[in-house]
Amino acid sequence: MKVTVFGIGYVGLVQAAVLADAGHDVVCVDVDEKKVEDLKQGVIPIYEPGLDSLVKENFAKGTLKFTIDAAEGVKHGEVQFIAVGTPPDEDGSADLQYVLAVAETIATHMESNQILVDKSTVPVGTAEKVSAKVAQVLKKRKREDLKFDVASNPEFLKEGSAVADCMRPDRIIIGTSCEETEEVLRELYAPFNRNREKIIVMDVRSAELTKYAANCMLATKISFMNEIANLAEKLGADVEMVRQGIGSDPRIGYHFIYPGAGYGGSCFPKDVQALIKAAEQIDFDADVLKAVEARNAKQKQVLFQKINGHYGGQLSGKTFALWGLSFKPNTDDMREAPSRVLMEALWEAGAKVQAYDPEAMDEAQRIYGDRDDLRLCGTKEACLKGADALVIVTEWQNFRAPDFDLIRQQLSEPLIFDGRNLYMPRRVQQRGFIYHSIGRAA
Ligand SMILES: NC(=O)c1ccc[n+]([C@@H]2O[C@H](COP(=O)([O-])OP(=O)(O)OC[C@H]3O[C@@H](n4cnc5c(N)ncnc54)[C@H](O)[C@@H]3O)[C@@H](O)[C@H]2O)c1
Repeated sequence: MKVTVFGIGYVGLVQAAVLADAGHDVVCVDVDEKKVEDLKQGVIPIYEPGLDSLVKENFAKGTLKFTIDAAEGVKHGEVQFIAVGTPPDEDGSADLQYVLAVAETIATHMESNQILVDKSTVPVGTAEKVSAKVAQVLKKRKREDLKFDVASNPEFLKEGSAVADCMRPDRIIIGTSCEETEEVLRELYAPFNRNREKIIVMDVRSAELTKYAANCMLATKISFMNEIANLAEKLGADVEMVRQGIGSDPRIGYHFIYPGAGYGGSCFPKDVQALIKAAEQIDFDADVLKAVEARNAKQKQVLFQKINGHYGGQLSGKTFALWGLSFKPNTDDMREAPSRVLMEALWEAGAKVQAYDPEAMDEAQRIYGDRDDLRLCGTKEACLKGADALVIVTEWQNFRAPDFDLIRQQLSEPLIFDGRNLYMPRRVQQRGFIYHSIGRAA
């Protein structure tokens, strides 16, 4: 099937590459000229396991193309995906300007009937806004003879396993009341719907809300567990034991109940906020979600508070080795990352940071540029040298079994602040370290 994807970000690029790999003929359109040129040269703008080869192979085969020419894109696809960003507006609601700009572009260039599919995470009612925009432009063009449908098909991929998630989705939500649209999208996704029925068809509004509900549920689990961790610490309990104790109940499960330094990334923070705002607009108080957000904002401060507490508020002149900059492992994404909150607080207090991340070094350089109080180091060992303490912010696999002797030798004091509970407190303490973690007594 001929498919066009507007927006070549984490979602658009991965989905496009996976669709092309299954045999579809995919054209990707983006307004970012450099990104498009880079992709044509085989430079992949993001780190995502398996993506590099998938893009290069399908680009070489000619089933995956990149362009800034929107007219070419609109002409190509039987289905036009909208996969552009929906960042938070100033008040926290989802900013739909990019989604509506793509709707306008499609309407401006369409010469045949079209199916538009919202893949971006958008508030309930967005498909209606997209429809209204398209209708408005077609009217202006005097092309009301052209028919279109706007469906919702939210994306559930996880950064860090995005390719695998798109190739083997847990579910494929299709929001439409149009039979033809349903048939076309069923055909499009047939290669990914083989071992069991994964497609769930529903009305557009329910599909739009499903995506927010999923992310908000996961954020709720994290904030809940962080709350329990803080309580455990104060009550002299070990949250890791509590986690196992409750996770063994199948109604609760083990997923997403790890305490830590707060959730980040491009989705949970903005989606929780956007749903709170959407609720406000219809005079509904989203009490649970507000608490989830407030707990997370506090949780992002916890590592700094532990460090600051240890030094009695005297952080000026101290240097901290930071392991992990990305908001979670297996991605280079630093959007809303707890590492940023921590580094900025440390700088504010007059401390310096030496940081290492397996994938997010370029991203950190892009965000912070050259500054005296940040040194980006080539290895996790290099960043220890001369630091006063080690702080673990992201749970990369490669941080789980380090050489503790080397850490002790390199640091000026044997001191670890672990925001992800990677180590066994007693073992680390036996090695002579002062060890602070989350939800376990120091
Ligand atoms: N990142 C994730 O893990 C994830 C997962 C599920 C859903 N989502 C949702 O998917 C959407 C996209 O997220 P993302 O992380 O891929 O965003 P992103 O910021 O990585 O990419 C968006 C892309 O859209 C492009 N763009 C902007 N305006 C455009 C236009 N008019 N025409 C063509 N391209 C345009 C940008 O240049 C950019 O390349 C968001 O709504 C997000 O909430 C993201």
